Amino acid sequence: MSLVAIGACYVDTILTTPHYPGEDEKLRASSISRRRGGNCPNTLEVLQQLTADLSLDLVAILPAKSSSASRQIQSAFEPHISLAHCIYREELSEPASSYIIKSQSSGSRTIVNYNELPEMTVAEFTNIADYLDPKTSWFHFEGRIPDVTLSCICYLRRQYPSVKISVELEKPGRPGLQELAEEADVVFYSKSWAQGNGYQTAEECIQKQSVIARKASLLCCTWGQNGAVALETKSKSMIHSPAYSAVDFKVVDTIGAGDTFIAGMLYAWLCQGDKWNLSQKLGFANRIAGMKVSQEGFAGLKRALESFNSQ
Ligand code: FRU
Repeated sequence: MSLVAIGACYVDTILTTPHYPGEDEKLRASSISRRRGGNCPNTLEVLQQLTADLSLDLVAILPAKSSSASRQIQSAFEPHISLAHCIYREELSEPASSYIIKSQSSGSRTIVNYNELPEMTVAEFTNIADYLDPKTSWFHFEGRIPDVTLSCICYLRRQYPSVKISVELEKPGRPGLQELAEEADVVFYSKSWAQGNGYQTAEECIQKQSVIARKASLLCCTWGQNGAVALETKSKSMIHSPAYSAVDFKVVDTIGAGDTFIAGMLYAWLCQGDKWNLSQKLGFANRIAGMKVSQEGFAGLKRALESFNSQ
């Protein structure tokens, strides 16, 4: 089975600060780190730790193939995650970049990003889709360029009716994301998207969205410390699972927690199927996202599976 994830790839520069700075303040950071980011790349980095049964492909726009950013991204990902279908903008050498302030007092992560790489076009995507192994069974889209993404989804539905599609709706106030949810088999809603659309709770978001996203078999909404809610439309079961926290749990790094939740849920949905019920699937996704929050970066998250299996 294979999964193709389509979304942006960033280089994250993370400054850890004692608190979030006020405007025009001077503040000394306690550490700086740089790592590859982006929702889909983060999700793939976690997924590849959980299973060898999924072949994983990233479709992202990268700068020139010979640029140091592209070479670093390639060496971090290959051979486990294929970058064969990434699109290189040969005239540019700077990757999409995020500058992130991680506040130790609140645990918040404030992200400012800059991206001058021209976005993927529908034609670029359809070329890739036609070239992919027709056995590719799952496409996961980060909802960020909704009009293009919607055309890509419609193309897949027309040409390859058996493929399954998931989408992530994260950014509030971005018109067109709702339409993506209406076309997908699985939808991941973030708390910020839900709040931006007037929902007060994850339950309310899922309940009301289930009437709108009518093709979906699974809808999930994460709500930070309040855990997450999932609805399986086949059984009409809606489940809430609290956020995972172990003894001595400390918030260390929330950057990519939502991306890790998605990896956990995709793993559970695609690789465990009926062997796990919805409550187990959601419990696992929360556990791995919680473990991620209590550590820097994404390494070593396979332990979430080991500890889940042994409980
Ligand atoms: C975390 C993240 C970062 C990236 C930013 C892009 O979810 O993917 O790695 O810089 O969001 O929006």
